[in-house]
Amino acid sequence: MIVTAPDFSEKGGFKIANYLNLKFVVINTKKFPNGEVLAKISQPDEIKNEDIILFIHTYPNTNERIMLLLQSMEALRHYGAKQIHLVIPYLPYSRQDKRFLTGEALSLKLLTDLLEELKVDTLFTVDVHSIEVLKTYAKFDVNIISLFEPLAKKILNELCEEKANNILVAPDEGRLNPVKRLAKKLSVPYTYFTKKRDLYTGEISIKPVDERTEADYAIMIDDEISTGGTMSEIAKILKRNGVKHVIAGAIHLILTDKAIERLYQSGVDYIVGSNTIENPFSIIESEYFLAVELKKELQ
Ligand code: R5P
Repeated sequence: MIVTAPDFSEKGGFKIANYLNLKFVVINTKKFPNGEVLAKISQPDEIKNEDIILFIHTYPNTNERIMLLLQSMEALRHYGAKQIHLVIPYLPYSRQDKRFLTGEALSLKLLTDLLEELKVDTLFTVDVHSIEVLKTYAKFDVNIISLFEPLAKKILNELCEEKANNILVAPDEGRLNPVKRLAKKLSVPYTYFTKKRDLYTGEISIKPVDERTEADYAIMIDDEISTGGTMSEIAKILKRNGVKHVIAGAIHLILTDKAIERLYQSGVDYIVGSNTIENPFSIIESEYFLAVELKKELQ
């Protein structure tokens, strides 16, 4: 078995190879003046009759990187790869998992259809928006790991003072079940908010389920922070209620736009998450957890 990754994900791919004690082969990428891209396996002779773990970060430059992913798979197949296990820490288009408005494309299904066409054997990924929907679309094996628990444990152990009153916060109903399970497992109380998004303007309206939330540390946990809009609205409410410290925790820290500024201005004290997307706030190394899962499933 060989681990491979395009050059922009070389560090992560190399870490996975080290954890699993496997050889690493880089895939070189380039961009032509007209904007087209090209993937080229650096040592194609190494691929023949090997099972391959292809590791790739598809953020930033998502659309370009998806093309490079498809090209990498095409080349790996051409050069005789046996099984291909794809590792995408942050699955692109996982939020466009239904046609929200009439006429829209179903991006996630299209992506899984393309991967199916290129005969991916297994997709390993981390905390997707909806596990159920992804599993309905993908006709290949899908293995989704969750970093909610390691992230929450690390926050509680390293950011919250000893004997403080802590509360876990699900930012919307979509995250209620995982946060509820986590709260039970870690013996910490929880609360949640309801969120409505205007499908035309993208504007959100947030409401707390408990009118008063009192805590030393309120720990919001979500799958991702994109513009920071959701968590900053919640942080304002929590701070108004007298919560002393507000922690914005998410697995995928996209942090687009002015997200960081928006979060701090709303009263967030700490931003934390994993490195499924490269960012300065990561306290969880996703490659380690992915490697543990790959070892369990493949070796
Ligand atoms: C959507 O429901 C997700 O779980 C997140 O709550 C959402 O993507 C966060 O986006 P933003 O940071 O832009 O509010």
